[in-house]
Amino acid sequence: MKTSTPSAVTVRVPAKVNLQLAVGPLRSDGYHGVVTVYQAISLYDEVTVRPAERTRVVVTGEDAALVPTGPTNLASKAVTALGRATRQRGASRPGVQIEIRKRIPVAAGLAGGSADAAAALVACNELWRTGLTQQELAEVGARLGSDVPFALVGGTAVGRGRGELLTAALVSGSYHWALAFASGGLSTPEVYATCDRLRAARSVQPEPQLSGPLMAALRSGDPAAVGPELVNDLQPAAISLRPELRRALLAGREHGAVGVMVSGSGPTCLFLARDAAHARDLAVSLTGAGICRAVTVASGPVPGAAVVPVRESV
Ligand code: C5P
Repeated sequence: MKTSTPSAVTVRVPAKVNLQLAVGPLRSDGYHGVVTVYQAISLYDEVTVRPAERTRVVVTGEDAALVPTGPTNLASKAVTALGRATRQRGASRPGVQIEIRKRIPVAAGLAGGSADAAAALVACNELWRTGLTQQELAEVGARLGSDVPFALVGGTAVGRGRGELLTAALVSGSYHWALAFASGGLSTPEVYATCDRLRAARSVQPEPQLSGPLMAALRSGDPAAVGPELVNDLQPAAISLRPELRRALLAGREHGAVGVMVSGSGPTCLFLARDAAHARDLAVSLTGAGICRAVTVASGPVPGAAVVPVRESV
């Protein structure tokens, strides 16, 4: 059994999409009660932690300039929170250098920040040999962001509360997506607040409910059955803040996507394909349509944050 302390640990962590995002009224704690169906997809950030004199964050890759490197960085907060939760006899944990290689766009509705926090928790749990269970890491992570517990588990899961209370979902098959990234991000609090305003204007106060038809379609494993059941209560708000998203969604439909939706709080648009080849075709068509900054393909479900074996890490 390996007992020595590793000199560095790298964790790979997926982005998430919400196949359903049902949003309830604003709660007294500033969050909205939600019922959501998360799916982890094969678009990954990588986080490496190594001992250092003091904790610092280094970010490379996609949108690196947009990620804070100070104590407000979510991965840095995660390291501090895990250090506090596992402090031995009052002694604080040594510093760590946190290297984040970003591929998940920032403020895109794909929970990239939460993913990095989850990765940092898993990485430091290994680096420090603190031995917390996934459930214990999720309890630390839930205080950092609503989507952090899901980034630890991955797969497909139902989230309740503010998204942090998870139950596994029974799902068959693989789902292939084209993702259209917009220029610039959207602020999650602003999208929720816009959702509240739009609803107040129409006196809508829904109680979020898990979609039976979506869950049945997911059990069938048929993307053509899942596509029409995709639903995101934040989509009207995201579109009202970024009207050009409507054109992107329409373009996806015109090019034969079996389902189209805004991802989480946006502005990324998701296009569900029949299979992997169709997702690639959709990506090519959407790139040609020139309606977004960049397009990629990804599939789900994939597992949550996991340590990369040393020989595979970069
Ligand atoms: O949990 P997280 O820090 O990612 O949430 C960011 C912001 O998004 C919250 O401060 C809140 O304004 C909004 N939010 C919400 N209801 C949720 C999740 C997030 O209102 N269930």
